[in-house]
Amino acid sequence: MMHVSLRQLRTFEAVARLKSFSRAAEELHITQPTVSKQIRLLHEEVGLPLLEQIGKKVFLTEAGEQLYATCADWLETWGRFEQTVADLKGIKQGRLRIAAVTTTKYFMPRLLGPFCAQYPGIDIAMEVVNRDRLLERLARNQDDLYVMGVPPDGLNIECEPFLENPLVVLAPASHPLARRKRIPFAYLANEPFIVRERGSGTRLTVERVFQERDVPLKIKMELGSNEAIKQAVAGGLGLALLSQSTLSLDPNQKEVAVLNVEGFPIKRYWYVVRPRDKQLSVVANAFLEFLQAHVQLLKPRN
Ligand code: PGA
Repeated sequence: MMHVSLRQLRTFEAVARLKSFSRAAEELHITQPTVSKQIRLLHEEVGLPLLEQIGKKVFLTEAGEQLYATCADWLETWGRFEQTVADLKGIKQGRLRIAAVTTTKYFMPRLLGPFCAQYPGIDIAMEVVNRDRLLERLARNQDDLYVMGVPPDGLNIECEPFLENPLVVLAPASHPLARRKRIPFAYLANEPFIVRERGSGTRLTVERVFQERDVPLKIKMELGSNEAIKQAVAGGLGLALLSQSTLSLDPNQKEVAVLNVEGFPIKRYWYVVRPRDKQLSVVANAFLEFLQAHVQLLKPRN
């Protein structure tokens, strides 16, 4: 009989899915040597190589593929068991697993604060990733709830809007357009833009907005963080379309201006998403109810 631990399987599943030791270490909040050690122990126990590393790339061997398929099912079953145990103990104890897109970092922690105060026995694991990574997690049923701005079409999911998420156009405060009213959208064709990385929901929305209006989007720079984009805009590198949520912690921001562009702000929402046939834990249900009761407080002020 093989002696394999849950920890080793979790580590292997993450490496196999992400095809990277370092990304697995990051996701599991452990060091890379720990990941390597867990995988080595698993190799020894199974008695066959599971992964092959060529340069920086990780490939699954045939045994690795088999184990990957098995442990995805197994981890899900185990997760359901943990959930049942938490449910039996009641919502005073348990773990809420949320995956939220990057841009939600401006309001999700503020929202979780009062929730944790109300339910001190609940611990929360929140993964903050961009939209593409979040969809991978959703497909693998890794979390209880998912928070995003652009829910995918065609998946069997349930999604509830819970907060406004307007999209605004930002420019340096000294930009000549900052003093104009009702700027026609077509004017933006002349401006260089700073955009988020591919795979981000914001990037997807920005591309759709320009496409729908048949206006070319001149990308000057691509950056993987909303904060870096705001700094680049403040530094005069270009304009950006961002969620208004990115401004909410910074109401006195003086270096960037929200432009008065026709049709803006574009009205959008933040959604809480879950697979339609998912059995929600008591903890996850408590969080959904909490959202419905409290989000009015979080409506953006400006
Ligand atoms: P992002 O997602 O943080 O990946 O850009 C934002 C969104 O989905 O609106």
